[in-house]
Amino acid sequence: MSPGILNVDGAPRHVAIIMDGNGRWATQRGQPRSVGHRQGVEALRRTTRAASDMGISVLTLYSFSSENWSRPQAEVRFLLELLRRFIRTDVAELHQSGVRIMIIGDRAGLDPTLRTMFEEAEVLTRENTGLKLVIAFNYGSRQEITRAVQALARKVAEGKISPEDITPSVIGNHLDTGGLPEPDLLIRTGGEQRLSNYLLWQCAYTEFVFMPDYWPEFDGERLRQAIETYRLRDRRFGGLKAQTA
Ligand code: IPE
Ligand code: IPE
Ligand code: MG
Repeated sequence: MSPGILNVDGAPRHVAIIMDGNGRWATQRGQPRSVGHRQGVEALRRTTRAASDMGISVLTLYSFSSENWSRPQAEVRFLLELLRRFIRTDVAELHQSGVRIMIIGDRAGLDPTLRTMFEEAEVLTRENTGLKLVIAFNYGSRQEITRAVQALARKVAEGKISPEDITPSVIGNHLDTGGLPEPDLLIRTGGEQRLSNYLLWQCAYTEFVFMPDYWPEFDGERLRQAIETYRLRDRRFGGLKAQTA
């Protein structure tokens, strides 16, 4: 990996990924979907290492959506166990490489053991200044926005703020991603071209790169390709190109 990609002009600070295609990858090989999920964790490890080496500031990974509970119970259980095992085995190494772990999504109603694991990983790595690895678990953007709106409504009802105090930046800060920069680049593997309830508010001006590769095939090289595609984009944010302005 080329270290210090951040020094190169136009590199993304925040990369968000929809890690999709585990099941199809396995099915294509005549294997159960669980094999794809297990290989998906390997791809997650490779990608995190690559992002950290490249000097990317934030990597946000969609690991389980609010809607994924509707899958067969056995698959849900397998995914939860994979996540538990990942935290148990990988957090120490991530901590050593200076990675700060953050988890976004709804924690209410989650298994208390899992919640404790999340909290411990976050507390352990809180002071780290390297890559921020944000894991979206039981995450749904509409649910996240709803929670933020409820929190703000509560503050208004308690007289702590007035409705006029609610600005886009106040709303942004009440989301689970409050304090993080918005994603510059969103990558979705697996060929689908949709957001599936991921970071709807945060992606207002994000560049999207859709890749046909299934997630278990993803690696540092593909991440680099997506970043190259991103760097050729002309981000205007509603304005005009810098040279014609
Ligand atoms: C992504 O792969 C992993 C999760 C959603 C947890 P999928 O399991 O969605 O794989 P496909 O899209 O069915 O191939
Ligand atoms: C999005 O993938 C969620 C994750 C990658 C965790 P899905 O496979 O759940 O999305 P849909 O169902 O194809 O929209
Ligand atoms: Mg999928």
